[in-house]
Amino acid sequence: MRLSVAIDGPAGAGKSTIAKLLAKRFNLMYINTGAMYRAVTLKAIKEDISPEDKENLLKLIDKMEMHFENDDLILNGENISEEIYLPFISNNVSNYAAIPEVREKLVALQRKMAEKYNVVMDGRDIGTVVLKEASFKFFLTASAEERARRRCDELCSKGISVNHKEILNEIIKRDYIDSHRKINPLTKAKDAIEIDSSYLTIEEVVDKMSGYITKGGSSNLAK
Ligand code: CDP
Repeated sequence: MRLSVAIDGPAGAGKSTIAKLLAKRFNLMYINTGAMYRAVTLKAIKEDISPEDKENLLKLIDKMEMHFENDDLILNGENISEEIYLPFISNNVSNYAAIPEVREKLVALQRKMAEKYNVVMDGRDIGTVVLKEASFKFFLTASAEERARRRCDELCSKGISVNHKEILNEIIKRDYIDSHRKINPLTKAKDAIEIDSSYLTIEEVVDKMSGYITKGGSSNLAK
């Protein structure tokens, strides 16, 4: 089996930053599954397809070719990595991600990617559903306040002006929908290692995870 690292956790816990660094350190492909749900949301909103209109939504997904290049999501040849983080996407993505048929399609795509490459994959259901047999599973958390602060800094650094309270509310609402949906809710896999990053630097989290991966060494790599 290929090497696969699964990182799950709530919005803004730092999964993508950490995953990108682990990808570099262990020469893995970074698969950002949240970006895939965001891409579906972006396309659906642009084409005026509501989450209730399943038929057109599924047709739309069938027309979407998604792959990753240098950590960026390429959709039908276009790099959409900036656009999918705009607040109107964040505010709507959980409603599209809660649709079972949408998840089925994206999970199948994600599994195919992990069959082809050694991956680090982040999301909400990676350790519990997508890659149940992952070589390493982590569950990354941080307090909602801290996560909102980080997300504000990130958006501000991209020149998008945001309000801390609004971001905090969006994160709390999204966490609630993600953890309470019927299909594949956000939950820690029994065999995942939980890391609270509220008081850790990025480097400290990466070092902690790297320690497990290096120690797991050959037995896990050989699985
Ligand atoms: O970066 P952030 O943590 O804010 O979120 P994201 O990873 O980009 O994911 C955006 C949204 O996609 C989440 O709030 C979930 O609703 C959904 N998602 C999911 O349902 N399952 C995944 N494996 C990944 C994301």
